[in-house]
Amino acid sequence: MKSSPFKYGFTVSGKSFTNREAEKNKLLNNLISGINTTIISPRRWGKSSLVEAVISDIKKKYPKHKTVEIDLFYVSSEEEFLEIFAEKVIKASASKWEDRIKNTKEFFKHLIPTINLGIDPNNDFSIKFKWEEITKHKDEILNLPEVIAQKKDIKFIISMDEFQNLATFKEYAILEKRIRSVWQRQKHTTYCLFGSKRHMMSEIFNNTSKPFYRFGDVIFLQKIDSIHWVKFIIKKFKETKKEITPEDATIIAKTMGNHSWYVQQLSSYVWERTETVAGKAEIQSAINELVYANSPFFLKEIEVLSSTQINLLRAIANNEIQLTSIAVMSKYRIGTPQNIIKNIRILSNNDIIDKYNGKHEILDPAFRLWFLKQFYNVDFTKMLTTD
Ligand SMILES: Nc1ncnc2c1ncn2[C@@H]1O[C@H](COP(=O)(O)OP(=O)(O)O)[C@@H](O)[C@H]1O
Ligand SMILES: [Mg+2]
Repeated sequence: MKSSPFKYGFTVSGKSFTNREAEKNKLLNNLISGINTTIISPRRWGKSSLVEAVISDIKKKYPKHKTVEIDLFYVSSEEEFLEIFAEKVIKASASKWEDRIKNTKEFFKHLIPTINLGIDPNNDFSIKFKWEEITKHKDEILNLPEVIAQKKDIKFIISMDEFQNLATFKEYAILEKRIRSVWQRQKHTTYCLFGSKRHMMSEIFNNTSKPFYRFGDVIFLQKIDSIHWVKFIIKKFKETKKEITPEDATIIAKTMGNHSWYVQQLSSYVWERTETVAGKAEIQSAINELVYANSPFFLKEIEVLSSTQINLLRAIANNEIQLTSIAVMSKYRIGTPQNIIKNIRILSNNDIIDKYNGKHEILDPAFRLWFLKQFYNVDFTKMLTTD
């Protein structure tokens, strides 16, 4: 049996990557012209895939630009961050381990790192520091790419995924100021900083009293339009000798709110069920599987909410607009207007709800369907939509 042409669960590239032409051009131009760029969007809309696509283009077309990619998701302290930063910059500065060692000796003035080489030293190359030393000389590490770039007549483009994670470190406020003051003076190093926790990211980059305010361009990545999804879905079916009508492809995209991950996941489930031509029955059964496959995550999500917050979600899921009206407040038992405002803020900050065209909505389209089933016993498989 052929495997599904729809991919989800990791970043996508090549033929699995669709659209985003304007975003790719803008990001590429920014990074090549030295404009630091921040990208914010909810998780699974496609940030990492977009950045990966642009970085891979830069690697092909701009040999003088050395790229460094750091995922801060698993980094949990300032020391660890600085160590990884140094290691990745040194690695990107040269491809041979002998040159990297030379660079390490030449470019560190105060810090003395220990270098570990594995059996395949070009790939197994790691740097360790004494942690007391590392925080004493953090500027030296933060400025390392710039010093190397100037000396070797190269440029660095450094991208960092889940950047907001830095804000959870113990001494973050001090680190944030240091980072900003060192990085803003750099002329040969450009940063692409992106993350999924929208509230935290906005707090770092859009708060006028914070050091990273005006650090560079801030892009709020949007979803891919359904027109593009429909083309993509039809094409993938065709390439694998199956068929789907434009109407049914539209249902897949729209029912999943054009959410990148879910459009790919639902398309994949429909594709698996389709012998030759996909139809409504396949879509309904696929939606069912998708919602149930994700339900453990949704359960976890509501486990931590208070009953008032869940009631507020019920009102929002039920398309109530005037949340602080007397009728809505008493119908759903969502407390006083102050409670409501506070809970809206909490749910928004946790990316559970979002304001769209003046109306609060549940952000995750599959979570919304699951929620409607749980709390209103709605048969979501009948909620297929083309608008
Ligand atoms: N440009 C794209 N074309 C097709 N699918 C995409 C695209 N971007 C993202 N996706 C889908 O969304 C999923 C999540 O993408 P990812 O880049 O990891 O998002 P994020 O970094 O915003 O969490 C991918 O696994 C893929 O299924
Ligand atoms: Mg990501």
